[in-house]
Amino acid sequence: MKGVIGVIGSGAMGSGIAQVAAQAGHEVWLTDTNKEALERAETQLKSTFARLQEKGKMNEEEAAGILRRIHFTADLSALAPCTLVIEAIVENFSVKQQVFRELEPIVSDSCILGSNTSSLSITSIAGSCLHPHRVMGIHFFNPAPLMPLVEIIPGLQTSTALLEQVRALISSWQKVTVVCQDKPGFIVNRVARPFYGEALRILEEGVADVATIDAAMRAEGFKMGPFELMDLIGNDVNYAVTESVFHAFYFDPRYKPSITQKRLVEAGWLGRKTGKGFYPYGADVKPHQVNAHPSLLHSIANRIVAMLINEAYDALYLGVASAADLDLAMTKGVNYPKGLIEWGKELGMDRVRERMDQLYSIYQEDRYRPSRGIYMD
Ligand code: NAI
Repeated sequence: MKGVIGVIGSGAMGSGIAQVAAQAGHEVWLTDTNKEALERAETQLKSTFARLQEKGKMNEEEAAGILRRIHFTADLSALAPCTLVIEAIVENFSVKQQVFRELEPIVSDSCILGSNTSSLSITSIAGSCLHPHRVMGIHFFNPAPLMPLVEIIPGLQTSTALLEQVRALISSWQKVTVVCQDKPGFIVNRVARPFYGEALRILEEGVADVATIDAAMRAEGFKMGPFELMDLIGNDVNYAVTESVFHAFYFDPRYKPSITQKRLVEAGWLGRKTGKGFYPYGADVKPHQVNAHPSLLHSIANRIVAMLINEAYDALYLGVASAADLDLAMTKGVNYPKGLIEWGKELGMDRVRERMDQLYSIYQEDRYRPSRGIYMD
């Protein structure tokens, strides 16, 4: 008998998580304090399943069965029979704390509690619960039904047995799970920072324009360049993640946000969603021409990739996750062409060290310090 899953918050993430759990055969209770958000989620899920049928991905009976398993309610007490509840509400510690306080007396003592937070400490959320051992981070990526990666994060108090149980369950939902320490940004939002940050720095230095930097990274095998990706994610969202990681690491200059990106946010140039970001968008916009010398493209890509590999090896050295999980996270969570640990080995760690030493000797900034991790092979 499959457990009943509760999802709190029916926004972008919560409704996607509910869909994933229902598709895996669970009865799901999806709740939200905002009735309109619940109605929106229901309408969107119905149109998603209509589309899946049109595309021939499932038949009418299957789609109807999945939708029947998702119960929409504004009443938190409907979550009483759940064996696992995943919270995906607004990213605000005190609001999350309040929701867990209300939830714990409703569910059984054996119900596992997960948070989809991207930036809050799992340990602090667990710390405000009655039974902290059953609380963990279960971090899906957007859109949850399509992105294969889920980061599972134990707080200091989390039971290892429950963690393994959840890892097995989420893996059975056709997801790729990785386990990581409760450190800022977990894996992906930490290790990916130089992809954006170093690209922005190169732009600010006037080394190349956005189209050239994007072309350099696409030539390296990335599906999208950093600026195209920031425009897709939304500069407001991407900037907020960088700022939160920077603060959480006590202002480590490696994660320093970019004033250039901040100005775009201030101007409301958030990217695709506002019709303008680093690039203009619209029907009459011509594709960008890049006429850079191949050596410039190489040097840009070498610099950004070296910073990414340095970051991944630093996370490995500091025990954030295993080498295998670090590589799975970057390939399955953000579609990197290769895992960064593997990439370092393939390139040769001597070359990674050489690139980092060179950057550090030019800039003499802490931002470019080579991690001890790249010397551990
Ligand atoms: P959203 O703003 O789309 O949805 C949040 C929903 O929570 C809203 O419908 C709101 O009415 C509801 N809500 C707020 N307070 C509530 C309460 N006390 N009880 C019940 N429902 C409440 O937000 P989104 O983007 O879905 O994010 C949710 C969580 O997932 C956040 O913690 C976020 O950091 C995390 N996350 C977001 C990702 C993204 O790309 N949007 C990716 C991965 C994680």
